[in-house]
Amino acid sequence: MATSVRKAVLPVAGMGTRFLPASKAVPKVLLPVVDKPLIQYAVEEAQAAGIHEFIFVTGRGEAAIKDHFERDDALDAYLAARGDDAALAATAGALLESGTAAFVRQEKPLGLGHAVLCARDLIGDEPFAVLLPDELLLGDPPGLAQLVDVHGKTGGSVVALAEVPQSETGRYGIVEVAAEEERIVTLSGMVEKPAPAEAPSRLALIGRYVLQPTILARLAAQGPGAGGEIQLTDAMAAMVREEPFHGVRFTGQRFDCGSPAGYLQATIGCALQRPELRQDLLSFLREAMPPS
Ligand code: UTP
Repeated sequence: MATSVRKAVLPVAGMGTRFLPASKAVPKVLLPVVDKPLIQYAVEEAQAAGIHEFIFVTGRGEAAIKDHFERDDALDAYLAARGDDAALAATAGALLESGTAAFVRQEKPLGLGHAVLCARDLIGDEPFAVLLPDELLLGDPPGLAQLVDVHGKTGGSVVALAEVPQSETGRYGIVEVAAEEERIVTLSGMVEKPAPAEAPSRLALIGRYVLQPTILARLAAQGPGAGGEIQLTDAMAAMVREEPFHGVRFTGQRFDCGSPAGYLQATIGCALQRPELRQDLLSFLREAMPPS
């Protein structure tokens, strides 16, 4: 797919406190949904949108994330000796080509906006994508491809949106809508984690963005916002007022894997889509459910 978006930033430097103790030694984004870590779903989603350059913003657990995307000669030799082609294909599927992955360090988790700013020198002066791997999106076309498509039509910046219950607006960035046509939403404002009574809509940011590089100077000049963190939403809110900025309602399934409840749903949802797992899982779920 021809695209003007070549680079993706994956901020993975958060502490993952909602997944302790699992996330103590294993970064949250390496937790598997069925048999593939969250971060690989995000990379594959970006590749499906034509992206081939990846910038990982890392904190604790950087080495394990690097290992996941690098060749392991000893493991491959072992699998080759056993003639295990399926397992070899699985390890090959996780490789990122030489020169296409960069890792930058966020020393302290000062917020998502700060994490993106850490990638500034590698982003340069071109539009770029941001994917939060703990949001798992299953769509056809895949989530980021939906944004890149709209970006090709509207230019400017584009964010993915989904409707959330009014009671949950305090967990998300929420947008204010000026107009909407065929899933493309023209935005007039944006606010991070508003209380339900103050939320300008129920349309939430769901962790996929195509951003103009002008956001980087805004982030650099910006102080801490909600929760004392440098918020990406605050910089985007300022952009909305001054530059072309659209949202697109994501079509597909979305799982918030930042919490155990969403992660469980993702695991079951993905397993049900796997022909070799589906029947056994359905039988198990039917048995586990009390008769109504
Ligand atoms: P979250 O707030 O959902 O993740 O950030 P977290 O902080 O790891 O999880 P909890 O709340 O402690 O359980 C969304 C994404 O932004 C990244 C996270 O790694 C996650 O992918 N992030 C967040 C950073 O890279 N740096 C930050 O300073 C904050």
